Amino acid sequence: MSETEYLAIGNRVAIRPLDRADREEYLSLVRESAELHHPWIAPPATPEEFEAYAARFHGPDREGFVVCERTTGAIVGGININNIVRGAFRCGALGYAAFGPSAGRGYLTDGLALVIRHAFGPLGLHRLEANIQPGNQASRRLVQRLGFRLEGLSPDFLFVDGAWRDHERWAFTAEMAGSLP
Ligand SMILES: CC(C)(COP(=O)(O)OP(=O)(O)OC[C@H]1O[C@@H](n2cnc3c(N)ncnc32)[C@H](O)[C@@H]1OP(=O)(O)O)[C@@H](O)C(=O)NCCC(=O)NCCS
Repeated sequence: MSETEYLAIGNRVAIRPLDRADREEYLSLVRESAELHHPWIAPPATPEEFEAYAARFHGPDREGFVVCERTTGAIVGGININNIVRGAFRCGALGYAAFGPSAGRGYLTDGLALVIRHAFGPLGLHRLEANIQPGNQASRRLVQRLGFRLEGLSPDFLFVDGAWRDHERWAFTAEMAGSLP
């Protein structure tokens, strides 16, 4: 991957849009990450699920990125901005996942900082939310590390792993971007 094809480049990672050509690498990483992802998320696990997933990002209300190791181009994570609403709200809801082999090295912290800057820059958003189950400590640590603020608890907020789950609402607005690492 040439560096010019990335949307944003950090010291260790870079971000670019998810591409249909990523299918085999992505599915292989998902297979290796079952333990890390369960019970928090259920990413696409078959070619058909991946195709449907990638197609969701063609509309104006979602953006899908992959986080790549800068030197090798290998995918180390995925970050989405879902439910984008413009007008006076200019807000989107984050979804993200690390992949087993490269988790716990700070790549998602770096990648999410790049996505946040991209959201408040080229995408013209003002606010990003991360809705997180109270027991998802790795995800809570990730947003805390980046300076998100905890706004409250949303009971029965999302249907995850067979039930409606309470979620904490963490948010980051453009005014806070000065504190990003
Ligand atoms: C949430 C999730 C994306 C976090 O991934 P992660 O790999 O822990 O995040 P990072 O890549 O930023 O790595 C941070 C960890 O690496 C460590 N680390 C090592 N080197 C680091 C560096 N140079 N910079 C920052 N952190 C570093 C940190 O100490 C941290 O570990 P800790 O949380 O135990 O303190 C991951 O756990 C995941 O995919 N979970 C399942 C999906 C999920 O829950 N999604 C969110 C739903 S709300």
